Amino acid sequence: MATVLKFPDGFLWGSATSAYQIEGGNHNDWSEWEQSPRRLESLKKRGEDPNLFMSGRACDSWNRWEKDVALLKELHQKVYRFSIEWSRVEPEEGKFDSDAIQRYISFVKSLCDAGIEPVVTLWHFTNPAWIQERGGWLNPSTPDALLRFIQVAVDNLKPYVKTWVTLNEATTVYAGLSYIRGVWPPQHKNIWQALRVARHMIRAHRLAYRAIHAAYEQDSPKQSHDVERDTNPLNARRASMSHNVRVGIVENLTYVVHGRRWYQRGLGAVYDYIRNHIGLSRMAPYFDFIGLNYYHVERRFGGTPQIFSPGRIVPDPYWELHAEGMYQSLKSLTRYKKPILITENGLPDAEDAHRGMFIRDHLHAVWRALQDGVDVRGYMHWSLLDNFEWASGYAPRFGLVAVDRTTLERTIRPSARMYAIICKDNQVTL
Ligand code: BGC
Repeated sequence: MATVLKFPDGFLWGSATSAYQIEGGNHNDWSEWEQSPRRLESLKKRGEDPNLFMSGRACDSWNRWEKDVALLKELHQKVYRFSIEWSRVEPEEGKFDSDAIQRYISFVKSLCDAGIEPVVTLWHFTNPAWIQERGGWLNPSTPDALLRFIQVAVDNLKPYVKTWVTLNEATTVYAGLSYIRGVWPPQHKNIWQALRVARHMIRAHRLAYRAIHAAYEQDSPKQSHDVERDTNPLNARRASMSHNVRVGIVENLTYVVHGRRWYQRGLGAVYDYIRNHIGLSRMAPYFDFIGLNYYHVERRFGGTPQIFSPGRIVPDPYWELHAEGMYQSLKSLTRYKKPILITENGLPDAEDAHRGMFIRDHLHAVWRALQDGVDVRGYMHWSLLDNFEWASGYAPRFGLVAVDRTTLERTIRPSARMYAIICKDNQVTL
């Protein structure tokens, strides 16, 4: 007999994207890097077609946004996470593009009209070219520059938005891939630089947290405080409860699997802290919720994951996918005592052979965490569309909705129809 897992009333079901991965026609540090001789040379050496590794038109969502809203509606999404592209809003330092701002306002309004709550990310891996020219996140003034952009974005969108994400995976992904492993622009390999970048990003998050609350406070002014110097956690908690706005941070957690020997357990615990929690613990308590992006297991120190769904490990060329990691990651976040929104979870699956099962297994893990009392408020699948997958280009297909690379036409995949029923009924049938 089928088992039905009921979710709490008001659970936020949805999906997620980011600007550079879907909008098309952006000019920023990534687009410059894609066309740089260094990048082109390395693709040539691998025998790859460079066009498949340039974001170009992406999904053309900058123009086809009405279609995207219609898709979200058709798929019974209650919430949609997307990002605002800094380089579009502020293409030159201090010069804000009112047409771009207007386009984002129209988009957000139309989501609200469709009954879909916007969750807006303010930075998702890309920087304006002018920021990169002066050192990107190595430059201590970048947090202040980001803050100016955030103030403009928030002032314009605050009538429609109550859930903001400051930075996407700043400490768990960006600092490492761009400054330690050197696979993303600016392709540095220097741990000291990575630490500097992470420090600046943590500062940017705190500044943004404070500024967004302040922007909503304008209607009901109260005594302000300097969040950077304020080490009293109670003040952050008070700020988070006093307005109709939630400001969160999104980080990417992996499930670190290790063997049972004492040194494997020790190394596993240390690695888990460094990989998953060091940034979050430095940003706490300056977030009203935590956005969890969960994708995969990391098996570094021996051991096998506890098999949660025997035989259901999805083959994937890059990652070991396992739903148990969702449960473990959610449990590990309870130490911060904040509500959790799952802001990304998904897999590349062009054939749509595993996505339906993957979603059900991962939601079963979410449900188990809820039964244990973990305060999970929503789940956003990555991604709404087959989008531009950063250094991997267009090969991985993460979309609930397939996008034809030539016509850019959207086609709803069968797993998306299944997920739509979950969203509508607020329950999962196993
Ligand atoms: C990122 C997305 C990316 C996804 C799949 C996440 O870490 O936030 O931008 O597409 O992983 O790789």
